[in-house]
Amino acid sequence: MDESNGTLGIVGASGFVGRELARQAAAAGWRVCGFSRRARSPDPAVPGWRLWNESPDLRGISAVVNLAGEPVDQRWTAANKRKFHASRVGVTGTLARAVADLPAGQRPAVLVNASAVGIYGDRGDTILEDDAPPGLGYLADLCRQWEVAADEIAVLGPRVLKWRTGIVLGAEGGAFRRMLLPFRLGLGGRFGSGEQWMPWIHVEDLAAGMLHAIRHPDLAGPVNGSAPEPERNADFTRKLGKALRRPAVMAAPAAVLKLALGDFASALLASQRAIPRALLESGFRFRYPTLELALDELV
Ligand SMILES: NC(=O)c1ccc[n+]([C@@H]2O[C@H](COP(=O)([O-])OP(=O)(O)OC[C@H]3O[C@@H](n4cnc5c(N)ncnc54)[C@H](OP(=O)(O)O)[C@@H]3O)[C@@H](O)[C@H]2O)c1
Repeated sequence: MDESNGTLGIVGASGFVGRELARQAAAAGWRVCGFSRRARSPDPAVPGWRLWNESPDLRGISAVVNLAGEPVDQRWTAANKRKFHASRVGVTGTLARAVADLPAGQRPAVLVNASAVGIYGDRGDTILEDDAPPGLGYLADLCRQWEVAADEIAVLGPRVLKWRTGIVLGAEGGAFRRMLLPFRLGLGGRFGSGEQWMPWIHVEDLAAGMLHAIRHPDLAGPVNGSAPEPERNADFTRKLGKALRRPAVMAAPAAVLKLALGDFASALLASQRAIPRALLESGFRFRYPTLELALDELV
């Protein structure tokens, strides 16, 4: 499977990761087809758009990357949890039905389905390679259900990758952009003890890694989509403060985070020392393997 004769369908092409993926895929020679719930004016990077609804049209799509997902960095109310679930487990189920509706010879050959390192729960200093089992907690359970839904697509024929993304660093969106303001105001600081491991990845490497995985028939199943050197939260904070030339001496105690953010605080305090062994062994070279290199580019 490669870009020379293929159409890449991107569910969630309008999002932070989807926009970068569409840009890189088009530059590499893919025909790109974005799926969105809204009929939208064409993005220059995505000449083709189709509507995402209960029966999306996958005809002619040779590979799919599913990046749908309501952001979880908001209050985990019952209503929001329904959105988190519907946009991940529900969307992947809709994708499965759309794949099943196509004759076997016309189905996409590959699916990269988003998941997240949140699947590992809170694992201290344990090194988590791609085949590490899921952990405990709300996010771990949500990601596990998301991956089970993706496994149901593998049964229909496509090679399926369950992409366990770390915290995505990029200037145009995601958690990183939201982190910058407090740091610029000198209010940056560690979360809780700061001992927890944060797997992170530069958005350019994330998109490039997904395109690499589509081309590599040996890659399948769970893949850690995070840089080779995760950082402890306190080190991440210190390095970001240094890159911004701002002090990062504040600390948000766990109890304060819980009061301010509710259950979402558990995601900021969880430790996931994830290592992208499968990507590295398949020959993928990170452009930003260290946080210093990523921050140099971003700040
Ligand atoms: N950014 C991170 O740090 C990070 C970390 C770990 C995992 N991830 C996962 O990676 C994926 C992409 O993240 P992102 O930062 O690019 O997210 P984003 O900017 O919020 O974009 C999410 C996309 O999902 C689509 N979407 C949301 N709800 C949907 C629904 N119910 N049905 C169909 N489409 C829906 C939206 O498309 P339309 O509105 O156009 O329909 C949007 O383009 C998500 O699954 C996220 O959970 C991200």
